[in-house]
Parts: sequence; C-alpha cells; structure tokens
Amino acid sequence: MNLSHVSIVVPDLDAAAAKIRSTWGLDIGEIELNEQQGVRLAYVDLGNAKIELMEPSRPDSPIAKFLEKNPKGGIHHFCLTVDSVDAAAASLAEKGAQVLGDGTPQKNVHGERIAFVHPKDFLGALVELEEHR
Ligand code: CO
Repeated sequence: MNLSHVSIVVPDLDAAAAKIRSTWGLDIGEIELNEQQGVRLAYVDLGNAKIELMEPSRPDSPIAKFLEKNPKGGIHHFCLTVDSVDAAAASLAEKGAQVLGDGTPQKNVHGERIAFVHPKDFLGALVELEEHR
C-alpha cells in the first residue's frame, strides 16, 4: 500500500487555494466535480503523495455534515492505494472491518474504484482505498 493523498474539507475551495499558495507556495491543480460523491475538489501534487481539498458541491453532500461540525474545515480522511478495491475490502471485512456504503461501486473523479473504511478500523481515521492499475 502507498499513501495516495490526505484529504482536507474546506468551506471555500478558492479561498483555500489562495491561502496555501500565499503561505506555502503550493499550487492546486484544476478544480474537478465528483457528482457521485457530492464534492468539488482539487489536488496539490507533492510528487510522492497529494493533498486533496474538498468542498461540498450540494447541500446534501456527505461532507456538508463534516463542515457543520467543523465550520473551518479539517482533515477528513487519508487514502491508500491498493491493487484491487474489491479484494482489499473483502479481506478487511473478513477481519471484522466495516467497509462503508451500500455495495454500489464508487469512483473518484479519475474513474478509479474507491471505497471507504470506518474510522474505528484505523485508530479513529477514516480511510479511503483507491484502485491503481
Ligand atoms: Co480522497
């Protein structure tokens, strides 16, 4: 497994991009929309891993609730790459881990298969699995 990205929910993607540019000298890539996940997002590419910035794209977005609890935003999840999301999810479930969702295959903006695993199964941190081929 490799670290794909650490994801931060922000209330305002454009303001977040301006802030990390002025303070850290880091540039974000193009802003993309993931309709299925209900997020607008952009990545800061660090070479060996990325930082994902996410903003809700609709009021019922799964991350809108996170912003209600954390109005200024904060770290939401980290993402590990796996060869097969199905195989990794099955193996984790076999060990008692809780893979989230209703079983419908989920995809990121690049069309890669993803899945989320309950924070209780990684020391309190929400984990995303991302399939890289
Ligand atoms: Co992510």
